Amino acid sequence: MLVTNATLPWLDAADSSAGAAGSPVSPGSVDLRVVDGVFAAIGPSLPREPGEEVLDAGGRLVLPPFVESHIHLDSVLTAGQPEPNRSGTLFEGIERWAQRKAFLTVADVKERVHRVVRQQAGFGVQFVRTHVDVTDPALTALTALLELREELAEWVTIQIVAFPQEGICSFPDGRALMERAADLGVDALGAIPHFEFTREYAVESLNFVCALAADRGLLVDVHCDEIDDEASRGLETLAARAYELGLGPRVTASHTTAMHSYNNAYFTRLLRLLTLSGMNFVANPVVNTHLQGRIDSYPKRRGVTRVKELSEAGVNVSFGTDDIVDPWNPLGTGNLRDVVHTGLYVTQLLGHQEITDSYRFVTTNAARTLHLGDGYGLEVGRPASFVLLDAGSWYEALNWNAPVLASYRRGRLVARTEPVHREVLF
Ligand code: FE2
Repeated sequence: MLVTNATLPWLDAADSSAGAAGSPVSPGSVDLRVVDGVFAAIGPSLPREPGEEVLDAGGRLVLPPFVESHIHLDSVLTAGQPEPNRSGTLFEGIERWAQRKAFLTVADVKERVHRVVRQQAGFGVQFVRTHVDVTDPALTALTALLELREELAEWVTIQIVAFPQEGICSFPDGRALMERAADLGVDALGAIPHFEFTREYAVESLNFVCALAADRGLLVDVHCDEIDDEASRGLETLAARAYELGLGPRVTASHTTAMHSYNNAYFTRLLRLLTLSGMNFVANPVVNTHLQGRIDSYPKRRGVTRVKELSEAGVNVSFGTDDIVDPWNPLGTGNLRDVVHTGLYVTQLLGHQEITDSYRFVTTNAARTLHLGDGYGLEVGRPASFVLLDAGSWYEALNWNAPVLASYRRGRLVARTEPVHREVLF
């Protein structure tokens, strides 16, 4: 297949800039040749070969597939079951989920997740990192997700994080459950230091998880300091372990909303360690603006981590959806455009270049977090996975919520959408 007249943002594999600030985008119309599911050539005006199928992009934007770097698939579509989260806080969400978790079945989880993954596919998402609650002696949700990871592998890459929603040191047999999850084949290990009973448990849980991940060769993705408490400082422990154990970019800190409330003197000192560690960050700007600041009067904190400062320091940051119609978010579709759109407003990243570069939060930066390596990117020799948007640039796609007209995975069409036709009658 030959994709002609595609507009590409400038993507340099060696580029380590983190989305907001960074390299200029050099749009240009190019052709992409796909042979046996791999990009065989990318360049201007490639000669058409006899009998070759042609997809004329018509100057529209082609991006690598969208990457969902943070979601909880096990809880999707459970909002209000058995009762809604009335306070809108993270902690009531955990209580509501514990009620719903009591009657999970593998079939129930698989049916809901399957629906949402297909929804995501329609928005051009081909890679998903999901956190799965393992504070369940039966590991029901994990069983379901492990099965789906295999069953859906040709359509979507699912990465599973063993997520101890109710704690590791504060939950009965928490450590053993994490070890069982590791034995069952998860991709990454999580933790939730701000939910542990004590600061000591928080530190202990992070030490435990980092050591286990190092031992098993797993990635780490911690729900870290998802609270408005400026004294919640699990992040410094996580970063120190990432640095000392040499885990570096294999470690991700998700949420880190307490950083929003850190004093600048502490943050400035911490930033050195964060940079040294080489770890990644995932912000969830939609859900955290909903969950955080709930017990503030006025002014109410936005509760989103310091995306701008981290990015400017060269730290890799991506954006995630976090939740779709569950105890933590009553809305959500899985369209990562919405996450970027809200994220740019909340983090005040609305300079022209910042907008232009912001696709990286849900593509290349997220791919780094997931360690997709050579399995991702618009480069010769890599799998021919890409999305075609109904817009001439990311700026336009973002502003107009342009649909993903086609999503190809290893050269195969995964999802398509007809362009919207709108008439105004005056
Ligand atoms: Fe989360």
